[in-house]
Amino acid sequence: MKNYDQLIDSALAELESCETPELLDKVRVKYFGKNGEVTNILKSLSKFSQAEKKDMGKKVNLFKQTFFDNLEKKKKVIEQIQIKEKLQKEQIDISLPTREEKKFDSKIHPITHTVNEIISILGNMGLNYEEGPDIENDFYNFTALNIPENHPAREMHDTFYVKNNSEKLVLRTHTSPVQIRNLKKKKFPLRIFAPGRTYRCDSDITHTPMFHQVEGLVVDHSVTFANLKWFLEKFCKTFFDNEELKLRFRPSYFPFTEPSAEVDINCSITAGKITLGEGDKWMEILGCGMVHPNVLKMSGVDDQKLKGFAFGMGIERLSMLKYGMPDLRDFYDSNIKWLSHYGFSFLETTDLSWR
Ligand code: PHE
Repeated sequence: MKNYDQLIDSALAELESCETPELLDKVRVKYFGKNGEVTNILKSLSKFSQAEKKDMGKKVNLFKQTFFDNLEKKKKVIEQIQIKEKLQKEQIDISLPTREEKKFDSKIHPITHTVNEIISILGNMGLNYEEGPDIENDFYNFTALNIPENHPAREMHDTFYVKNNSEKLVLRTHTSPVQIRNLKKKKFPLRIFAPGRTYRCDSDITHTPMFHQVEGLVVDHSVTFANLKWFLEKFCKTFFDNEELKLRFRPSYFPFTEPSAEVDINCSITAGKITLGEGDKWMEILGCGMVHPNVLKMSGVDDQKLKGFAFGMGIERLSMLKYGMPDLRDFYDSNIKWLSHYGFSFLETTDLSWR
């Protein structure tokens, strides 16, 4: 069996000299494949005597064990070497300077900045931060807000409906459903605000299908319209950083407030430039009113004992007026030029440590 011993030696030596998993496999096939050298020896065993067969069988099994043990070990060694090589090749030199023409300062998006400002101001005015889901059920978005089925106000909302088999779902058309979620907690006095995304199937210079609103709600035993006026005046003067700002409360209609008003702020417009707090032109900025008794009742709140005011503002609009952006659609165009012009540096971002 001298030949066989030589075969073992060369097989193990070949394994040892392999440098890739593919080569290892080739060696395996060469010896143990269908037509492999060891396989063929096993096939020819029938020619041998019983004693020889036994002896050979033992030897082959032993060899097989060693061969596959070595193959596994070698495989691991090769893998380790390959990983090391890959790591070395793919190393990133973080000390390399960036390419000059690709350099731009990262900025905070104006919406993020404006939301942070609103959070800071309303937080300081005693309201608590709340959130609601973007996908709402029909009840919270409409019915509980005194907008029953077939009510024309539903048409006004250009609603995105969400396909669903059980309950009726919509992408919330305003942040007002957060009012209901909080009224249902029945913890009074209730003083909350809720900024977030809202959706309407509408797209032109003044509308994007996704936009932001912030909702405010204060419910207590003796809340009046005068409280609402004081609150909004204080908020607007602080937000626009302008003590001269005048507010006009214009009678309006919302199904969930009674009485309802829209609020305008005064401004002048010269050569297309809007200056707030001066002049006799008016810009609409928000909707508000006293919480409708039906809304309180439907949330299980005693409308005889508790009263509330609510308001809702479009955040893009507030941002455009404060920072002078002419086109709403620019907010969501991901244009680096626009972002680096209108964006805010990290240091300008409002301090939120009080939260
Ligand atoms: N939800 C109203 C809108 O989207 C705004 C609003 C909120 C009005 C709260 C009154 C009270 O237009």
